Amino acid sequence: MKLILLGAPGAGKGTVAKLLTAIDGSVQISTGDILRAAVKDGTDLGKEAQGYMTRGELVPDALIMGIMGERLLEDDCKPGFLLDGFPRTIPQAEELKVLLAKLGIELDGAVNLNVPRDVILDRLTTRRTCEDCGEIYNVKSNPPKVEGVCDKCGGNVVQRADETEEAISKRLDVFKEQTAPLVGFYTGENMLIDINATSSDVVVADIKSALGI
Ligand code: AP5
Ligand code: MG
Repeated sequence: MKLILLGAPGAGKGTVAKLLTAIDGSVQISTGDILRAAVKDGTDLGKEAQGYMTRGELVPDALIMGIMGERLLEDDCKPGFLLDGFPRTIPQAEELKVLLAKLGIELDGAVNLNVPRDVILDRLTTRRTCEDCGEIYNVKSNPPKVEGVCDKCGGNVVQRADETEEAISKRLDVFKEQTAPLVGFYTGENMLIDINATSSDVVVADIKSALGI
């Protein structure tokens, strides 16, 4: 499948993407994960992105389009991809549209994960992430078997650098101002798939049913 995953911070984009990859081998492409890896490795991209990310602001569109323009050309994208956290501004959505048309790729839809604000705040304060492989946990609903240790790779399971109260509040404001307008954009493109993503059990089933798979 070829999908965009839209949703506020903590809506479950990363969690749902990982579950969907297991269905047909489509690859998860998370701009947040790519940037966090670059920060961890201390690359030029990481050095440029780090300040924006820690403050909860968006990284400039040009930097993101540079990354995605190359990433979508890679062979593992051919069978399918799940775009997690991209696009998240109208200019990114417009540039993606041009890029996909050039590559002759048609998307199956843009899935909008709807979750109320109180649930989001709870999820973001209780989320933990493996700093090595990016596996997502939750201290309440899905803790690692051994506290602080990733079940999958044995890496350290930690809170992200953008999980301070200040950064979370900034990320939610940025989402409302810059990313929420994408719902209107993809409605206009006749691609929007609205999903109630509050409950843990039905999200993937609802997406599959909306796609007819
Ligand atoms: P990014 O990494 O994309 O962060 P985000 O959008 O803030 O989203 P999150 O990763 O916080 O949440 P999520 O929706 O993936 O939720 P998750 O599955 O973890 O971006 C980080 C930063 O990078 C940005 O602030 C920006 O600086 C930069 N950036 C990235 N992309 C960019 C772009 N395109 N342009 C510009 N800048 C960009 O779930 C959250 C928690 O809830 C977990 O604990 C999980 O276990 C739990 N959970 C999930 N689903 C459920 C469920 N259904 N029921 C119960 N619990 C659930
Ligand atoms: Mg994520």
